Amino acid sequence: MLIRRPTDILPSEITSEHAYLQRREWLKQAASMGLIAGLPAFAAGDALAQGSRLAGVKPNPAWQLPDEKLNKAEEFKSYCNFYEFGTDKTDPPAYAKSLKTRPWTVAVEGEVLKPKVFDIDDLFKLAPLEERVYRFRCVEAWSMVVPWVGYSLSALINQVQPKGNAKYVEFVTLADKAQMPGLRSSVIDWPYNEALRLDEAMHPLTLLTLGAYGEMLPNQNGAPVRMVIPWKYGFKGAKSIVKIRFVEKEPRTAWMKAGPSEYGFFSNVNPTVDHPRWSQGSERRLGEFGKRKTLMFNGYGEQVSSLYSGMDLKKFF
Ligand code: MTE
Repeated sequence: MLIRRPTDILPSEITSEHAYLQRREWLKQAASMGLIAGLPAFAAGDALAQGSRLAGVKPNPAWQLPDEKLNKAEEFKSYCNFYEFGTDKTDPPAYAKSLKTRPWTVAVEGEVLKPKVFDIDDLFKLAPLEERVYRFRCVEAWSMVVPWVGYSLSALINQVQPKGNAKYVEFVTLADKAQMPGLRSSVIDWPYNEALRLDEAMHPLTLLTLGAYGEMLPNQNGAPVRMVIPWKYGFKGAKSIVKIRFVEKEPRTAWMKAGPSEYGFFSNVNPTVDHPRWSQGSERRLGEFGKRKTLMFNGYGEQVSSLYSGMDLKKFF
Protein backbone atom coordinates (compact mmCIF):
# COMPACT_ATOMS: atom_id res chain seq x y z
CA MET A 1 0.00 0.00 0.00
CA LEU A 2 1.09 3.57 -0.55
CA ILE A 3 1.92 5.92 2.27
CA ARG A 4 1.68 9.71 1.96
CA ARG A 5 5.12 10.79 0.95
CA PRO A 6 6.07 14.41 1.57
CA THR A 7 9.08 15.55 -0.39
CA ASP A 8 11.14 16.04 2.74
CA ILE A 9 11.18 12.37 3.71
CA LEU A 10 13.87 10.14 2.33
CA PRO A 11 12.43 7.01 0.72
CA SER A 12 14.45 5.01 3.24
CA GLU A 13 12.60 6.70 6.10
CA ILE A 14 9.11 5.84 4.98
CA THR A 15 7.37 3.16 6.98
CA SER A 16 5.46 0.77 4.77
CA GLU A 17 2.31 -0.67 6.25
CA HIS A 18 3.95 -4.08 6.30
CA ALA A 19 6.92 -2.71 8.24
CA TYR A 20 4.51 -0.83 10.49
CA LEU A 21 2.57 -3.99 11.32
CA GLN A 22 5.79 -5.91 11.91
CA ARG A 23 6.97 -3.19 14.27
CA ARG A 24 3.64 -3.37 16.09
CA GLU A 25 4.04 -7.14 16.52
CA TRP A 26 7.56 -6.63 17.79
CA LEU A 27 6.43 -3.91 20.18
CA LYS A 28 3.66 -6.14 21.50
CA GLN A 29 6.15 -8.87 22.21
CA ALA A 30 8.66 -6.43 23.66
CA ALA A 31 5.96 -4.96 25.92
CA SER A 32 5.05 -8.39 27.21
CA MET A 33 8.74 -9.09 27.88
CA GLY A 34 9.21 -5.79 29.72
CA LEU A 35 11.60 -4.43 27.09
CA ILE A 36 9.61 -1.35 26.16
CA ALA A 37 11.16 0.86 28.84
CA GLY A 38 14.46 0.60 26.98
CA LEU A 39 13.15 2.38 23.88
CA PRO A 40 14.24 5.97 23.28
CA ALA A 41 11.82 8.58 24.56
CA PHE A 42 9.79 10.36 21.90
CA ALA A 43 11.41 13.50 20.58
CA ALA A 44 8.83 15.73 18.93
CA GLY A 45 11.53 17.72 17.18
CA ASP A 46 12.72 14.58 15.42
CA ALA A 47 9.25 13.79 14.21
CA LEU A 48 8.65 17.24 12.85
CA ALA A 49 12.01 17.26 11.14
CA GLN A 50 11.17 13.99 9.44
CA GLY A 51 7.89 15.07 7.93
CA SER A 52 4.84 13.00 8.68
CA ARG A 53 6.54 10.06 10.36
CA LEU A 54 6.47 10.08 14.16
CA ALA A 55 9.64 8.51 15.47
CA GLY A 56 9.99 6.63 18.72
CA VAL A 57 6.36 6.72 19.84
CA LYS A 58 5.82 4.01 22.43
CA PRO A 59 2.69 1.90 22.62
CA ASN A 60 0.87 2.40 25.87
CA PRO A 61 0.47 -1.19 27.09
CA ALA A 62 -2.69 -0.23 29.00
CA TRP A 63 -4.50 0.63 25.78
CA GLN A 64 -3.86 -2.12 23.29
CA LEU A 65 -6.44 -4.50 21.81
CA PRO A 66 -4.41 -7.65 21.16
CA ASP A 67 -7.52 -9.60 20.15
CA GLU A 68 -8.62 -7.08 17.53
CA LYS A 69 -7.25 -6.75 14.02
CA LEU A 70 -6.12 -3.27 13.07
CA ASN A 71 -7.87 -1.70 10.13
CA LYS A 72 -5.63 -0.95 7.20
CA ALA A 73 -4.24 2.58 7.12
CA GLU A 74 -5.71 2.90 3.66
CA GLU A 75 -9.23 2.16 4.98
CA PHE A 76 -8.75 4.79 7.67
CA LYS A 77 -7.54 7.39 5.18
CA SER A 78 -10.04 6.79 2.43
CA TYR A 79 -13.41 6.49 4.22
CA CYS A 80 -13.89 9.70 6.16
CA ASN A 81 -16.42 12.05 7.68
CA PHE A 82 -15.23 15.64 7.54
CA TYR A 83 -18.13 17.75 6.35
CA GLU A 84 -15.98 20.86 5.91
CA PHE A 85 -14.72 19.05 2.81
CA GLY A 86 -18.01 17.55 1.64
CA THR A 87 -20.55 15.01 2.83
CA ASP A 88 -19.36 11.96 0.87
CA LYS A 89 -16.88 9.62 2.53
CA THR A 90 -14.49 10.15 -0.36
CA ASP A 91 -14.71 13.97 -0.34
CA PRO A 92 -12.25 14.60 2.53
CA PRO A 93 -9.46 12.47 1.01
CA ALA A 94 -9.99 14.27 -2.29
CA TYR A 95 -10.33 17.85 -1.05
CA ALA A 96 -8.50 18.12 2.28
CA LYS A 97 -5.06 17.86 0.67
CA SER A 98 -4.76 21.62 0.55
CA LEU A 99 -5.60 22.17 4.22
CA LYS A 100 -2.75 24.23 5.68
CA THR A 101 -1.80 22.71 9.01
CA ARG A 102 1.23 24.90 9.73
CA PRO A 103 1.28 27.50 11.22
CA TRP A 104 -1.54 26.41 13.54
CA THR A 105 -2.55 27.45 17.01
CA VAL A 106 -5.06 26.16 19.53
CA ALA A 107 -6.47 28.77 21.91
CA VAL A 108 -7.39 27.33 25.30
CA GLU A 109 -9.67 29.77 27.07
CA GLY A 110 -12.77 30.35 29.18
CA GLU A 111 -13.09 29.35 32.82
CA VAL A 112 -9.42 28.55 33.45
CA LEU A 113 -6.78 30.17 35.62
CA LYS A 114 -4.09 29.99 32.95
CA PRO A 115 -5.53 30.53 29.46
CA LYS A 116 -2.97 29.94 26.75
CA VAL A 117 -2.59 29.87 23.00
CA PHE A 118 -0.63 26.74 22.12
CA ASP A 119 1.40 26.57 18.97
CA ILE A 120 0.84 23.18 17.35
CA ASP A 121 4.53 22.30 17.69
CA ASP A 122 4.29 22.96 21.44
CA LEU A 123 1.28 20.63 21.63
CA PHE A 124 3.51 17.88 20.21
CA LYS A 125 5.86 18.44 23.16
CA LEU A 126 3.36 18.99 25.96
CA ALA A 127 3.40 15.33 27.04
CA PRO A 128 5.08 12.17 25.75
CA LEU A 129 3.28 10.89 22.67
CA GLU A 130 2.07 7.32 22.89
CA GLU A 131 0.28 4.89 20.64
CA ARG A 132 -3.10 3.57 21.69
CA VAL A 133 -5.17 1.11 19.75
CA TYR A 134 -8.83 2.04 20.18
CA ARG A 135 -12.07 0.76 18.73
CA PHE A 136 -13.75 3.58 16.81
CA ARG A 137 -17.54 3.36 16.32
CA CYS A 138 -19.29 5.78 13.98
CA VAL A 139 -22.92 6.66 14.71
CA GLU A 140 -23.69 5.40 11.18
CA ALA A 141 -23.03 1.83 12.41
CA TRP A 142 -19.59 1.20 10.93
CA SER A 143 -16.45 0.79 12.95
CA MET A 144 -12.66 0.52 12.78
CA VAL A 145 -9.70 -0.33 15.00
CA VAL A 146 -7.06 2.37 14.76
CA PRO A 147 -3.63 2.90 16.33
CA TRP A 148 -3.88 6.55 17.35
CA VAL A 149 -0.98 8.68 18.57
CA GLY A 150 -1.41 11.32 21.23
CA TYR A 151 -1.74 11.71 24.98
CA SER A 152 -4.53 12.10 27.51
CA LEU A 153 -6.26 15.46 27.20
CA SER A 154 -5.92 15.71 31.00
CA ALA A 155 -2.24 16.67 30.49
CA LEU A 156 -3.34 19.87 28.74
CA ILE A 157 -6.25 20.49 31.12
CA ASN A 158 -3.92 20.30 34.12
CA GLN A 159 -1.71 23.00 32.60
CA VAL A 160 -4.50 25.53 32.14
CA GLN A 161 -6.13 24.80 35.52
CA PRO A 162 -9.93 24.91 35.19
CA LYS A 163 -11.76 27.10 37.69
CA GLY A 164 -14.38 25.61 39.99
CA ASN A 165 -17.22 26.71 37.71
CA ALA A 166 -15.79 25.02 34.60
CA LYS A 167 -18.19 22.13 34.03
CA TYR A 168 -17.80 21.43 30.31
CA VAL A 169 -15.07 21.53 27.69
CA GLU A 170 -15.98 22.64 24.20
CA PHE A 171 -13.91 21.94 21.08
CA VAL A 172 -14.22 24.34 18.17
CA THR A 173 -12.80 23.43 14.80
CA LEU A 174 -11.45 25.45 11.89
CA ALA A 175 -14.03 27.04 9.56
CA ASP A 176 -12.14 28.65 6.70
CA LYS A 177 -14.14 29.11 3.52
CA ALA A 178 -10.98 29.63 1.50
CA GLN A 179 -9.75 26.14 2.35
CA MET A 180 -12.92 24.20 3.04
CA PRO A 181 -15.38 23.84 0.16
CA GLY A 182 -17.94 22.05 2.36
CA LEU A 183 -18.65 25.26 4.26
CA ARG A 184 -20.85 26.32 1.34
CA SER A 185 -23.40 23.80 2.56
CA SER A 186 -25.58 24.67 5.54
CA VAL A 187 -25.85 21.08 6.77
CA ILE A 188 -23.87 22.16 9.88
CA ASP A 189 -24.01 25.46 11.72
CA TRP A 190 -20.28 26.16 11.25
CA PRO A 191 -17.87 26.03 12.91
CA TYR A 192 -18.26 22.33 13.82
CA ASN A 193 -18.14 22.07 17.59
CA GLU A 194 -18.30 19.29 20.12
CA ALA A 195 -18.13 19.12 23.90
CA LEU A 196 -17.58 16.86 26.89
CA ARG A 197 -18.41 17.10 30.56
CA LEU A 198 -15.23 18.02 32.46
CA ASP A 199 -14.98 14.58 34.11
CA GLU A 200 -15.27 12.91 30.68
CA ALA A 201 -12.61 15.23 29.32
CA MET A 202 -10.32 14.35 32.25
CA HIS A 203 -10.78 10.60 31.78
CA PRO A 204 -7.44 9.01 30.82
CA LEU A 205 -8.98 7.37 27.74
CA THR A 206 -9.86 10.78 26.25
CA LEU A 207 -7.11 11.30 23.71
CA LEU A 208 -5.75 14.53 22.34
CA THR A 209 -4.76 13.05 19.03
CA LEU A 210 -1.90 14.16 16.81
CA GLY A 211 -1.25 11.08 14.73
CA ALA A 212 -2.24 7.59 13.64
CA TYR A 213 -0.42 4.59 12.14
CA GLY A 214 2.89 6.02 13.28
CA GLU A 215 2.47 9.22 11.30
CA MET A 216 1.04 12.66 11.83
CA LEU A 217 -2.70 12.77 11.15
CA PRO A 218 -3.60 12.86 7.48
CA ASN A 219 -5.50 16.07 6.68
CA GLN A 220 -8.72 14.18 5.98
CA ASN A 221 -8.59 12.59 9.42
CA GLY A 222 -8.38 15.91 11.26
CA ALA A 223 -4.82 17.21 11.06
CA PRO A 224 -3.09 18.65 12.87
CA VAL A 225 -5.05 17.91 16.08
CA ARG A 226 -8.35 16.19 16.86
CA MET A 227 -10.09 14.43 19.70
CA VAL A 228 -10.77 10.70 20.04
CA ILE A 229 -13.15 9.53 22.78
CA PRO A 230 -13.39 5.79 22.18
CA TRP A 231 -16.53 5.02 24.20
CA LYS A 232 -18.56 7.64 22.31
CA TYR A 233 -19.76 7.82 18.74
CA GLY A 234 -17.09 9.07 16.37
CA PHE A 235 -18.69 12.47 15.77
CA LYS A 236 -17.75 13.53 19.32
CA GLY A 237 -14.14 13.58 18.10
CA ALA A 238 -13.85 17.06 16.61
CA LYS A 239 -11.21 17.39 13.90
CA SER A 240 -8.75 20.20 13.12
CA ILE A 241 -9.34 21.95 16.44
CA VAL A 242 -8.52 25.65 16.84
CA LYS A 243 -10.15 26.40 20.18
CA ILE A 244 -10.77 24.56 23.46
CA ARG A 245 -13.15 26.43 25.71
CA PHE A 246 -14.00 25.71 29.36
CA VAL A 247 -17.58 26.71 30.14
CA GLU A 248 -20.17 26.51 32.87
CA LYS A 249 -23.21 25.50 30.78
CA GLU A 250 -23.61 22.48 28.52
CA PRO A 251 -22.76 23.71 25.00
CA ARG A 252 -25.09 22.97 22.10
CA THR A 253 -23.06 20.96 19.70
CA ALA A 254 -23.09 20.92 15.91
CA TRP A 255 -25.03 17.67 15.64
CA MET A 256 -27.46 18.52 18.45
CA LYS A 257 -28.34 21.63 16.46
CA ALA A 258 -28.56 19.75 13.16
CA GLY A 259 -30.79 16.94 14.50
CA PRO A 260 -31.87 17.39 18.14
CA SER A 261 -34.02 14.25 18.19
CA GLU A 262 -31.24 12.15 16.67
CA TYR A 263 -28.07 13.31 18.43
CA GLY A 264 -27.78 13.84 22.16
CA PHE A 265 -25.05 15.50 24.17
CA PHE A 266 -23.56 12.31 25.61
CA SER A 267 -23.63 10.09 22.51
CA ASN A 268 -22.14 7.14 24.36
CA VAL A 269 -22.02 4.04 22.22
CA ASN A 270 -25.12 2.17 23.40
CA PRO A 271 -26.56 -0.81 21.54
CA THR A 272 -29.82 -0.49 23.50
CA VAL A 273 -30.60 3.03 22.28
CA ASP A 274 -31.28 3.06 18.57
CA HIS A 275 -30.86 6.02 16.30
CA PRO A 276 -34.41 7.01 15.26
CA ARG A 277 -33.60 5.88 11.71
CA TRP A 278 -31.49 2.74 12.29
CA SER A 279 -30.45 0.18 14.88
CA GLN A 280 -27.33 0.68 16.97
CA GLY A 281 -27.31 -2.95 18.03
CA SER A 282 -24.77 -4.02 15.44
CA GLU A 283 -22.10 -2.56 13.23
CA ARG A 284 -20.02 -3.31 10.17
CA ARG A 285 -16.28 -3.30 10.74
CA LEU A 286 -14.66 -1.66 7.70
CA GLY A 287 -13.09 -4.38 5.58
CA GLU A 288 -15.38 -7.11 6.89
CA PHE A 289 -18.51 -8.65 5.45
CA GLY A 290 -21.43 -9.20 7.75
CA LYS A 291 -22.04 -7.51 11.04
CA ARG A 292 -20.81 -7.78 14.57
CA LYS A 293 -22.60 -6.88 17.78
CA THR A 294 -22.01 -3.41 19.13
CA LEU A 295 -20.60 -3.37 22.66
CA MET A 296 -21.92 -1.13 25.43
CA PHE A 297 -19.63 1.90 25.70
CA ASN A 298 -17.87 0.39 22.68
CA GLY A 299 -16.26 -2.16 25.02
CA TYR A 300 -14.91 0.41 27.50
CA GLY A 301 -17.62 -0.04 30.14
CA GLU A 302 -15.24 -1.19 32.83
CA GLN A 303 -13.32 2.06 32.50
CA VAL A 304 -16.12 4.57 32.00
CA SER A 305 -19.50 3.32 33.27
CA SER A 306 -18.95 4.95 36.68
CA LEU A 307 -19.03 8.35 34.96
CA TYR A 308 -22.75 7.76 34.36
CA SER A 309 -23.87 6.00 37.52
CA GLY A 310 -27.43 6.90 38.40
CA MET A 311 -28.12 8.40 34.97
CA ASP A 312 -30.88 7.14 32.69
CA LEU A 313 -28.87 6.62 29.51
CA LYS A 314 -32.04 6.32 27.42
CA LYS A 315 -32.92 9.87 28.43
CA PHE A 316 -29.36 11.20 28.37
CA PHE A 317 -28.45 9.59 25.04
N1 MTE B 1 -14.90 17.02 12.86
C1 MTE B 1 -15.16 18.04 12.01
N2 MTE B 1 -14.54 19.20 12.19
N3 MTE B 1 -16.04 17.90 10.98
C2 MTE B 1 -16.73 16.73 10.77
O1 MTE B 1 -17.53 16.64 9.83
N4 MTE B 1 -17.11 14.44 11.52
C3 MTE B 1 -17.18 13.59 12.72
C4 MTE B 1 -15.83 13.49 13.44
N5 MTE B 1 -15.22 14.80 13.53
C5 MTE B 1 -16.47 15.65 11.66
C6 MTE B 1 -15.52 15.83 12.69
C7 MTE B 1 -17.68 12.25 12.40
S1 MTE B 1 -19.32 12.14 11.99
C8 MTE B 1 -16.89 11.15 12.48
S2 MTE B 1 -17.55 9.58 12.33
C9 MTE B 1 -15.43 11.26 12.66
O2 MTE B 1 -14.99 12.61 12.70
C10 MTE B 1 -14.76 10.56 11.50
O3 MTE B 1 -13.38 10.50 11.68
P1 MTE B 1 -12.50 9.81 10.54
O4 MTE B 1 -12.95 10.37 9.22
O5 MTE B 1 -11.08 10.14 10.86
O6 MTE B 1 -12.78 8.35 10.62
